[in-house]
Amino acid sequence: MSTNILCLDDEPNYLLILEAMLSDAGYSVTALSDPETALAYLDESDVDVIITDMKMPRMTGQDVLEHVKKNHPHIPVMIMTAFGSIEGAVEAMKIGAFDYITKPFSNEELLLSASKAMKMSATQRQFRILQESMEERYGLHQIIGRSKPMRDVLAMVDRAAPSRSTVLITGESGTGKELVAKAIHFASPRQKNPFISVNCMALNPGVLESELFGHEKGSFTGAVARKRGRFELADSGTLFLDEIGELSPETQVKLLRVLQERIFERVGGAESIEVDIRIVTATNRDLLECVKEGTFREDLYYRLNVVHIQLPPLRERREDIPLLVAHFINKYAELNKMPVKAIAPEAMDYLCAYEWPGNIRQLENVVERCMVLAPGEAIGVEDLPPEIKDEESQFKSAVDLLPARLDLADTLEKIEAALVRRALIRNDFVQTKASEALGISKSLMQYKLKKYKISTGM
Ligand SMILES: Nc1ncnc2c1ncn2[C@@H]1O[C@H](COP(=O)(O)OP(=O)(O)OP(=O)(O)O)[C@@H](O)[C@H]1O
Ligand SMILES: [Mg+2]
Repeated sequence: MSTNILCLDDEPNYLLILEAMLSDAGYSVTALSDPETALAYLDESDVDVIITDMKMPRMTGQDVLEHVKKNHPHIPVMIMTAFGSIEGAVEAMKIGAFDYITKPFSNEELLLSASKAMKMSATQRQFRILQESMEERYGLHQIIGRSKPMRDVLAMVDRAAPSRSTVLITGESGTGKELVAKAIHFASPRQKNPFISVNCMALNPGVLESELFGHEKGSFTGAVARKRGRFELADSGTLFLDEIGELSPETQVKLLRVLQERIFERVGGAESIEVDIRIVTATNRDLLECVKEGTFREDLYYRLNVVHIQLPPLRERREDIPLLVAHFINKYAELNKMPVKAIAPEAMDYLCAYEWPGNIRQLENVVERCMVLAPGEAIGVEDLPPEIKDEESQFKSAVDLLPARLDLADTLEKIEAALVRRALIRNDFVQTKASEALGISKSLMQYKLKKYKISTGM
């Protein structure tokens, strides 16, 4: 794609010179003499760099610059000023012109400045794409789920995001705690600032402290230079402390102090460092239980638990499974540059019925594996891993669907009645065949039919 430079000057002679010099150098040039036309053109077209005259009737170069800053902040603007009018140039630089050149200028001067602007524009463009893909990835809409429990979670995220309140995210492994932590950050006013994450379990206590708070040179063997900790790196952004339930008692005390005072010292340092951070923590433990057992400080628990977001396990929101499956099929088709696969209805039934002890992470892995390994255009039952088709797991999920009242005798009778009915239907109401399928005698079958008042199809 060739670079598009928009040139704006009320003097036609200068436009001709600009156009000639720039197109000789291989740029594609749009030359316009009317600022209003130029601004309209900007809205329509893909412009990489703008070169504008300072003094024009009706609208000055500064007005153009202000408009661009507001509406197309990623496009660098170069200003041309008349020889000697240095104030205008200084003013233009102050309000954010990328560069200025004084008329008359040489070919070299113009091209040097233009090529700098081009590089700037290309970087800006890349950055914008990166930013958009980040926002897309972590934007609220990437948290898939329309079930009631998930809608409640998303509403909490929405409400919590704008504030600086500390958020505690709990939920079983693989339920999306980290995803939600990122969603909170990227929906908050801190979105352009760092999101720094620390896994409290992955590091042993000694190392964890210097990771969190940093250290001074020589504070311990191996501390060859001063190092900034995650608290400093997260300044003006969000610090995500994952697996918070694993913190040692000593680190708990230190963390409590930072939460109260927002200041801390580097390991081996005396200087107090003040930070502006929002803290989000996550754990798959029951922290209140840990408090009762005495492994987690009660005061710290209450500091962390200002806003509490509890993520439901996947088996409690099975209606989201088809959405998630579709989402992951698309994701892995894109990642592996392969066509999207369909999924057979029976295979989907199995996925919806399974227990998912590893929650969404496990579902994602299963879909990824099917996308790569299923030979056909559709994922069938035969492509599913064996644990999904396991009978015991299906029983467990059937139990999940039972009503709240769990009276054993009553529930078993209902299940028995349903089974007898199912056996009859499957065997076209031939009672001998149905009793064989159930593994009971013909007389027992007749007794059950009577007991449950099951119509025998005649
Ligand atoms: N609602 C969701 N929509 C889409 N993807 C999700 C959702 N929830 C989780 N995921 C995906 O599932 C995977 C696991 O999520 P995440 O790492 O956030 O879980 P976690 O609760 O932090 O797990 P662990 O406790 O094991 O650390 C990630 O790839 C994440 O993108
Ligand atoms: Mg996690």
